[in-house]
Amino acid sequence: MRKPVIAIDGYSSTGKSSISKIIAQRLGLVHMDTGALYRGITYFAIKNCSDADGAIDLDLLFSKLNEIKLRFKEVETELVLFLNDSDISKEIRSNEVSSHVSLIACQKEVRDFLMETQRSIASNGGVIMDGRDIGTVVLPDADYKFFLTASIEERTKRRFLELQGMGMGSNEDEVRQNLITRDKIDSTREVAPLKQAHDAILIDNSKLTKQETIALILSYIKEF
Ligand code: DC
Repeated sequence: MRKPVIAIDGYSSTGKSSISKIIAQRLGLVHMDTGALYRGITYFAIKNCSDADGAIDLDLLFSKLNEIKLRFKEVETELVLFLNDSDISKEIRSNEVSSHVSLIACQKEVRDFLMETQRSIASNGGVIMDGRDIGTVVLPDADYKFFLTASIEERTKRRFLELQGMGMGSNEDEVRQNLITRDKIDSTREVAPLKQAHDAILIDNSKLTKQETIALILSYIKEF
């Protein structure tokens, strides 16, 4: 029997990726964190397409998209993101990347460039993909769609702890502001904005633990 395709969308720091990763392990699916792809392009742009003031030259980035090879490799059961053979899994979580990524994710050229990578991975089924536009644009025919949300206080706390856990010093107010700004840009952009698909199941996990959120999602998925 064909394994399902599951789309998980939602706001920043609602736990989409870590939850999807565990569900993938439980159900024997491939997990794809599409936010990491946008972060990978942003990291490339900061390194290769910034002017002297640190602003990203978008036209230069578009002309260099064909130089970007993003691949996930399995390293000790973790999927690690490589950009042209360098492991960039830690770098893409930096505040610098977080503060530029929404601008990059607004660009149609960038979204088109990443579309094929995302769709080809899902074409044989057996995938759980998390992002912002998976249920609405990338995989509108997904077998299951979930949309995660949580209060800004809870999300700030989670992201702050995640950054601390990675040894990246940061300030809680800055983290909160970055989440608010990103959510606003992601939800109001013209191309593929962040929104709940009409057939997605809404889950507010402000008061749920990660394990409870996983159990709730699994309760909707039929055996296959
Ligand atoms: O999930 P994340 O916070 O790592 O995502 C980083 C940014 O990438 C987020 O602010 C919006 C963008 N993104 C997107 O536009 N579409 C996706 N499918 C995934 C992420």
